[in-house]
Amino acid sequence: MKYFFLSGSLRKDSLNTKLLHMAAQHLSSPVSDIANLNNLSIPLYSGDIEAVGIPDNVQKLAKCIDQAQALIIASPEYNYSISGVLKNVIDWVSRIRPMPLKQKPILLMAASPGPIAGIRGLWHTRVPLEGLGNYVFPEMFSLGGSFQAFDDNGFVNPDDQKRFVATLDGFEKFSKALTLK
Ligand SMILES: Cc1cc2nc3c(=O)[nH]c(=O)nc-3n(C[C@H](O)[C@H](O)[C@H](O)COP(=O)(O)O)c2cc1C
Repeated sequence: MKYFFLSGSLRKDSLNTKLLHMAAQHLSSPVSDIANLNNLSIPLYSGDIEAVGIPDNVQKLAKCIDQAQALIIASPEYNYSISGVLKNVIDWVSRIRPMPLKQKPILLMAASPGPIAGIRGLWHTRVPLEGLGNYVFPEMFSLGGSFQAFDDNGFVNPDDQKRFVATLDGFEKFSKALTLK
């Protein structure tokens, strides 16, 4: 299995990007990359830009997605819904042919300071990904009160650690079952 990770936050100290780094440490398979969208400077989708040519950095990202067997996405909830950064990337990648963002097993995670833990955003994130034909893992990992939920050793609450590990283990099995068919 080869995983590719994507964060829906551009923030330097993003809690969601931190979740991805923690997931990378736990997985038994290699992680091809944790994409840093700040370095890619992907423009807002415009049909006019597309008419001139899909930007190189979108092509680069699409290639990473294509070469991965499974994706893990961690994203904040913005105003009860999907992060605009993430939606923009999905929109761009969906314009590439052959379209790499289909039939991929995908795990969704969210960290949020609020008590609802970003889960509403993840439900909205499922829509474009499932619409494009991906296998979004039914279980999603969401972490509320997240500014207090980590320290240098990982999760403060052992129950969060257990949930995290159980979700990742379940996703690894799910991805392997789908890709080995
Ligand atoms: C525009 C905006 C809207 C937000 N809306 C929500 C929200 O609806 N629910 C929520 O739990 N947190 C919301 N937040 C707080 C984010 O969850 C918080 O900033 C989080 O730390 C962002 O993730 P990051 O640490 O990965 O950057 C919002 C933040 C911003 C900037």
